[in-house]
Amino acid sequence: MNFAAERAEMGRRELAVDPAAGPVESFAHELRRLRVRAGSPSYRALARKAGYSASALSSAASGTTLPSLDVALAYAGACGGDPRQWEARWQQARRELTDINEPVTDTPPVRAGAAGKPGDPLEWTVAADEAGYAGPYRLRRLIGAGSMGRVYLAFTPGGRAVAVKVIRADLAEDAEFRRRFAQEVAAARRVHGIFTAEVLDADTEGLRPWCASAYVPGPSLQDAIAHHGQLPAESIWLLAAGVTEALQNIQAAGLVHRDLKPSNVLLALDGPRVIDFGIARASDATHLTRTGIQMGSPQFIAPEHLLGHDITPAADVFALGGLIAFAASGQGPFGDGVDPAVLYRVVHEPPSLHHLTDELRELVEACLHKQPEHRPELDAIITTCGERSAATSLKLSSQWLPTAYLADIQRRIATVATL
Ligand SMILES: Nc1ncnc2c1ncn2[C@@H]1O[C@H](COP(=O)(O)OP(=O)(O)OP(=O)(O)O)[C@@H](O)[C@H]1O
Ligand SMILES: [Mg+2]
Repeated sequence: MNFAAERAEMGRRELAVDPAAGPVESFAHELRRLRVRAGSPSYRALARKAGYSASALSSAASGTTLPSLDVALAYAGACGGDPRQWEARWQQARRELTDINEPVTDTPPVRAGAAGKPGDPLEWTVAADEAGYAGPYRLRRLIGAGSMGRVYLAFTPGGRAVAVKVIRADLAEDAEFRRRFAQEVAAARRVHGIFTAEVLDADTEGLRPWCASAYVPGPSLQDAIAHHGQLPAESIWLLAAGVTEALQNIQAAGLVHRDLKPSNVLLALDGPRVIDFGIARASDATHLTRTGIQMGSPQFIAPEHLLGHDITPAADVFALGGLIAFAASGQGPFGDGVDPAVLYRVVHEPPSLHHLTDELRELVEACLHKQPEHRPELDAIITTCGERSAATSLKLSSQWLPTAYLADIQRRIATVATL
């Protein structure tokens, strides 16, 4: 079929894709070639065979985002492709895509608590209208996946990079989740600070809710520790002070983060950035349990939160203590995973901090106090970081992290520039 005929059929022309541009483009190019080999059936004809709409199928080959496995296989099957071969091809493209998030080594990232997440991205389907755009933002790469959905690197119409979290289809259907999500995103948009990634935009009403925040070029603390090892004390004082300042901004907007943990702290050239503040409330523990979804990382959740008591900003101080211990030792202070034993230890047992220096241990212990009212205030934490740091005053420079970390950040900056 020529372009004019196709345009008449689809209402728009299928733009050319450059297979060398990346895994998404290359996968789309292969799909299109298969369709040509099948005699260029119209998308409408394919839709009848595939059980997906013509627009879902044409989006699958648009080269803007990787289609879901279901849609890809339906497309390929309707064109006579071998499902096993196409599944392998799709898996390969997906692996290449996720590589942008971990461009440094071949080791897969170690994600604390991943075992308990309902989280294999293969389970998620991409709605036809999600493939390619979330609102005005052009989705370019899948950069992460968590318990609420997937995170894409996207671009604003003006060309700035943003991170778009697209909520999982099953949560999107949950009216209670949607109500809370709308509420929490509105609150999160009131947070302004230099150590927080600003929430820029959201759609809480559409078929698949999403929210967009400033893209931070840098690994999460979780992935960075897994790839490059623990941080030295000097980096940790700066990390702790930056995260504490972020908590001050979050508190100033009347919010509690509720889910501060290593995957929610990103490491940029000019300091840490806290993400996902408040949003966890949309799917908080009680609601999650009701819907059968498990929590990701209970070792960073304060005892009063786990016990279902009232939560105050001191719950974030508890999480900060765990985060500092993790940055210094590569381990959570109560063990890893979603084992009930971890929950028990958080509530009843002292943290295990023997890998820490005396100075770090003192601060972490104070933050991890079981009684929220005995945990230190945010101002006092920043003062302690300043006093303990070897520098005369806390100052973030572009050398605040070890070389391997900085190289990782630079690689991400370079990759984003090529998209
Ligand atoms: N603003 C952002 N800039 C850059 N990368 C981001 C941004 N937001 C999220 N990411 C990436 O996406 C990953 C996944 O985030 P997500 O919040 O979905 O999952 P999580 O924090 O690992 O788990 P959970 O859903 O339990 O919170 C992050 O760890 C980070 O690597
Ligand atoms: Mg997160």
